[in-house]
Amino acid sequence: MSSENMTLNLKIWRQKGKDAEGKLVDYRVENVSPDMSFLEMIDVLNEQLVRKGEDPIAFDHDCREGICGMCSMMINGKAHGGYKNTTTCQVHMRLYKDGDTIVVEPWKAAAFPIVKDLAVDRSGLDKVIIAGGYISASTGNAQDANAILIPKPIADEAMDAAACIGCGACVASCPNGSAMLFMGAKVSQLALLPQGQPESAKRTLNMVQTHDSLGFGNCTNHAECEATCPKGISIEHIARMNREYLKAAFTYHEKDRSDGGA
Ligand code: SF4
Ligand code: FES
Repeated sequence: MSSENMTLNLKIWRQKGKDAEGKLVDYRVENVSPDMSFLEMIDVLNEQLVRKGEDPIAFDHDCREGICGMCSMMINGKAHGGYKNTTTCQVHMRLYKDGDTIVVEPWKAAAFPIVKDLAVDRSGLDKVIIAGGYISASTGNAQDANAILIPKPIADEAMDAAACIGCGACVASCPNGSAMLFMGAKVSQLALLPQGQPESAKRTLNMVQTHDSLGFGNCTNHAECEATCPKGISIEHIARMNREYLKAAFTYHEKDRSDGGA
């Protein structure tokens, strides 16, 4: 831990585009305050690069407060730096020491092609959601909050699953590049609640089929996803999704799927 401004040596993955060759490039950043976030430290480096007329490092970010899931980076080989329940934007430079060397790379997974430098295309996760991660409900007046009573432990579990921010760290950390923790969370948050029941079979079958077709791998119980998830999503949700899938496989028929039946 440091309280003085630091000089850091960075090795950052630079790659001009999806099919270009990439490599780690050395940078030195001076005057890094321990109070800066990791992204602010990269902002400082980018300002230096721009002043020198060089191409700034492309990286994804948005909320910078652990909500949006955009700040995808491997820091020293760990997704989001490997700090418990922490996204990259919540990593502070006080966790490093003057003179440290930090390696920064993009998510590496077959289903996440590199767009540029540290920015990857995570639209595969959106496609999994489009395949069924929602409920169809007629709009109208908001229902009374007490009209459908849900036991507190169930509501809590659904809420825990809903905490997934779609960052993709689980995919990047899994040796199989699987998005099953992400998908398990999205299936669980609906499967646990009455509102998710009418379409549950169709949802699970379609989401799993889409996941597999996009090049995400299968789960072989390494649990790296759970260890690295900044929102503490439990692999219990993968187990629930597998149960939902089996149930759906036995009860749901192809004809219903093409009819759009629930
Ligand atoms: S399950 Fe965790 S690691 Fe995976 S996308 Fe959701 S928040 Fe990110
Ligand atoms: S920038 Fe939104 S979670 Fe990090």
